[in-house]
Amino acid sequence: MEIKVSNDVKNYAVDALVINMFEGERTSQELANTYAIDRDDFKGKLGQTYLLQTYDRIPAKKILVVGCGKRNEFCENEVRTAVYKAVKKLQQMHVKTAAFDFEVGFDYGKFGAIGAMLADYAFDKYKSEKATRVDEITFANASEESVRAGKAFGNAMKFTRDLANEPAAYATPTKLAEIAQSLDGIETRVFEKPEIEEMKMGAFLAVGQGSVQPPKFIHMKYTCENPKKRIAIIGKGICFDSGGLDIKPASSMLTMKDDMSGAACVLGVMSALKEFNPQVEVHGIIAACENMPSGTSYKPGDILTAKNGKTIEVDNTDAEGRLTLADALVYACELGVDEVIDIATLTGACVVALGTFVTGIMGNDKELVRNIIDTAESVGEKYWELPMFKEYFDCLKSDIADMKNTGSRQGGASIAGIFLKEYVKDVKWAHIDIAGTAFLEKPQGECGKGASGAGVRTLLSYILK
Ligand code: BES
Ligand code: MG
Ligand code: ZN
Repeated sequence: MEIKVSNDVKNYAVDALVINMFEGERTSQELANTYAIDRDDFKGKLGQTYLLQTYDRIPAKKILVVGCGKRNEFCENEVRTAVYKAVKKLQQMHVKTAAFDFEVGFDYGKFGAIGAMLADYAFDKYKSEKATRVDEITFANASEESVRAGKAFGNAMKFTRDLANEPAAYATPTKLAEIAQSLDGIETRVFEKPEIEEMKMGAFLAVGQGSVQPPKFIHMKYTCENPKKRIAIIGKGICFDSGGLDIKPASSMLTMKDDMSGAACVLGVMSALKEFNPQVEVHGIIAACENMPSGTSYKPGDILTAKNGKTIEVDNTDAEGRLTLADALVYACELGVDEVIDIATLTGACVVALGTFVTGIMGNDKELVRNIIDTAESVGEKYWELPMFKEYFDCLKSDIADMKNTGSRQGGASIAGIFLKEYVKDVKWAHIDIAGTAFLEKPQGECGKGASGAGVRTLLSYILK
């Protein structure tokens, strides 16, 4: 879908002219006022639509009235919802060209473009029959600049969703490394297995050792002159999580190609930075591998030594994400950055605690966690802080090593958090658990089934702030 900007849309002979209507108000279109409001009592609740024929009274073939709810409650997130619903309706109508003549009192280009691109998204690469799409939309009363920003956000989300939707046979660690190396404006170094061994990443290596796919440690870097801040973002990159020798039941394994959603998020964010040129140095880090059962797999009872020298008794090979993240966290802390943020489909316990529309977050710095939660809210993602009391570590105590990788099922998201904390040193750190939000088994809000792009909007906005 192409998204353009023009203030002259009233004279466009498009398939549909889309206008907005606030609850209890009249619109800028007489036809809409006469038919939708006066005759049909259309109320204009947020996301409601009303279709009108124009019978050649204006150049556009049809008018689609989109409800925007109450004017004083209408902000950027509501723009996204309204435009999303409008584009979904246009698709149903098989409209190819549309013009949005929205008058909302502010520049709605950014969130409008995001809403349109979310509606346009379908993972139909492998389908013979492609999704119905609108070819071109034009926004009036929006700036080129804001639409450009919205498109960059939309593209980053699409990038992440496409990658997380791909089967594990496609999105291998090698593929993730290739993608990282192909990003415009990003310097990437990929560490191969011998180099990972040299770096003494014993926890990460153990997880990947059962797979025929070689592990890749990926370090991307975006730089600028005189950065105001230096941030590292780490994405969990388990390209397939079978559970390993502690194998998962079939029903739990079904969606485990998504266990690299954190990595896909980091790649999506890195792919968009060039567009904005922020005054921040950003490191994107992914320890990519598969967790597979085989004769070479790591085993329950093994003792691993992570990059910082701490030893881990393997209690359960399915708690692999934290092992890969442990080494990635140590690596990131050694970069001397100001902040480290990891994002991971880490625990089923987080899904149990928060459901599929709330992302869990915890960390060692109240202000960082609060800033990320606020950023999430401003872009329409929901984050909720989970506790990280030191008592959560009690169940990770081992008789023969510094810790075990799992303890109790109860409070599992926080236990994973307190495990990760052992690998964080002298830096502000936040851990984001997207196990529930990254991959949807049924449509939710402005996302269809499958990968949602969880975290992309939040992390990108946070970096740009
Ligand atoms: N990748 C899973 C977590 C997950 C679960 C992601 C559901 C998305 C949806 C993770 O590696 C895992 O297997 N965690 C275990 C940990 C347990 C063994 C302590 C879990 O949550 O069951
Ligand atoms: Mg697992
Ligand atoms: Zn996993």
